[in-house]
Amino acid sequence: MQTTMKNLGAMTLAAALLAGTCLFSSPAKADVAAAGATFKAKCAMCHGADGKGKASMKTPDFTSADVQKKSDADLSGVITNGKGKMPAYKTMTPDQVKDMVAFIRSLKK
Ligand code: HEC
Repeated sequence: MQTTMKNLGAMTLAAALLAGTCLFSSPAKADVAAAGATFKAKCAMCHGADGKGKASMKTPDFTSADVQKKSDADLSGVITNGKGKMPAYKTMTPDQVKDMVAFIRSLKK
């Protein structure tokens, strides 16, 4: 009886590990289209519909090397925490921020 219980425990552990591995090995693909829609609704008024920035808003050109050379962590940090006149988007989920960074990457020249 005791060995059976032990085996059951080991199997449960193995199943849990397997499930965990599956979760991590197949990350959801970034939803660039959804981020693009959010961008038009929430960001375009300052960053321009094409993300190239507006001189009147002093927004950076997302298609430029200057912005593209920044790390994902840098860009998501600004989106989440804001910077200067850039508002913080604390209500965006980490996934939404990740998708937004993927969208900004897609604007690269
Ligand atoms: C009220 C105007 C405004 C809105 C709305 C706005 N931004 Fe910004 N954003 C700025 C300004 C101004 C900067 C430049 C901040 C600085 O460097 O001082 C900036 C900077 C950024 C940067 C950093 C770029 C870099 O070179 O470091 C990212 C990324 C960014 N915005 C993304 C977004 C996203 C995504 C949204 C919509 C969810 C958004 N912004 C909405 C004004 C805005």
